[in-house]
Amino acid sequence: MKNIPVCTPFLNGNENKYVADAMETGWISSAGHYVKDFEEQFAKYCDCNYGVAVCNGTVALHLALTALGIKPGDEVILPDFTMIASAFAICYTGAKPVFVDADKDTWNIDVNKIEEKITPRTKAIMPVHIFGNPCNMDEIARIAKKHNLFIIEDAAEAHGATWNGQKVGSFSDIASFSFFANKNLTTGEGGMVVMRDEKYYDKCRYFKNMCFPLDAPRIYEHNDIGFNYRMSNLHAAIGLAQVEKADEYKQMRIKNHELYKKLLADVDGVIFQREEQGAINVGWMNTILLNPTVYGHNKEDLIAHLKENGVDIRLLFTGLHRQKSLLNFGCDCGGEYPVTDNLTQNGFYLPSASNLSEDDIMYVCDLIKKFRDNV
Ligand SMILES: Cc1ncc(COP(=O)(O)O)c(C=O)c1O
Repeated sequence: MKNIPVCTPFLNGNENKYVADAMETGWISSAGHYVKDFEEQFAKYCDCNYGVAVCNGTVALHLALTALGIKPGDEVILPDFTMIASAFAICYTGAKPVFVDADKDTWNIDVNKIEEKITPRTKAIMPVHIFGNPCNMDEIARIAKKHNLFIIEDAAEAHGATWNGQKVGSFSDIASFSFFANKNLTTGEGGMVVMRDEKYYDKCRYFKNMCFPLDAPRIYEHNDIGFNYRMSNLHAAIGLAQVEKADEYKQMRIKNHELYKKLLADVDGVIFQREEQGAINVGWMNTILLNPTVYGHNKEDLIAHLKENGVDIRLLFTGLHRQKSLLNFGCDCGGEYPVTDNLTQNGFYLPSASNLSEDDIMYVCDLIKKFRDNV
């Protein structure tokens, strides 16, 4: 029987060579040159001037918020349908996450509902490019400008995605990426913030490394509370090898995503995320939303069928408005978030590794198709 995991990392370039070099030369902490090389190359890949590598995507968000001066009493608007890390990072600063439901087609933040959530305390909008599908950055930039708000893109899932030809990560004051093992580019665990403005670059470098004085002889005097969010040279060695292949890996994910969509196009009741005009979705996770009435089976039965046949899946995020942690933190968890609730209830990820074979995708789609037809 087949065994298709939901995702495996694809390490097909200079990863071994660079990691071995870091090991052999003894540069295994954050002081090695791979960190700088990876930062430069990844920032360039994102159409940005600067990158600051950190140890995961969650702290990357926290670093970005800190560098922008987000503090207790502030509010940050973000999509209700996102991974909990987006909200937790806001909580770490003492600011309050404020939720906006997802758009029913793109599954990204519903840009038409952002303005109704803005208050005098709002300081920033954090769009999240869900599953690799870019948000409408024109509209978000318009709202941010009108209300004088920062934009922090959570691009954890969207390496290389573009909006009107411009890379995600380059639309905001500071953007953040994750390099967890299931991401299109990975370092195992890792993250990076990217930006165009040198002042934010300096702030991120400063807070990331315990607020040691920047570019000065090391003295142990610290004027602010800092963090140790450093990435090791070993992780950065993997990252540099990955970024060298970024376009190739991106095309592989896009091709897989297109094939899934093509093969399931005529299966009634199976819905894919829609891209807005101008958005290139990099297909991080091939996610389907079931309309159980039309499909004829519920999600649980289809998942059980896939698992019985060796296909692994993952459930989707539970909306932020349903998270006890955020309710206890003082977030406003009232209100209705029907699109998010529907995604949580009826959606799940299909296998999505970059190097998934066409045969495997056809096998998965065939199972979904035949299950509907009860063949
Ligand atoms: C949207 C989003 N933001 C933030 C993160 C956090 O990244 P990490 O797991 O590297 O901390 C993730 C992780 O998958 C994510 O999907």
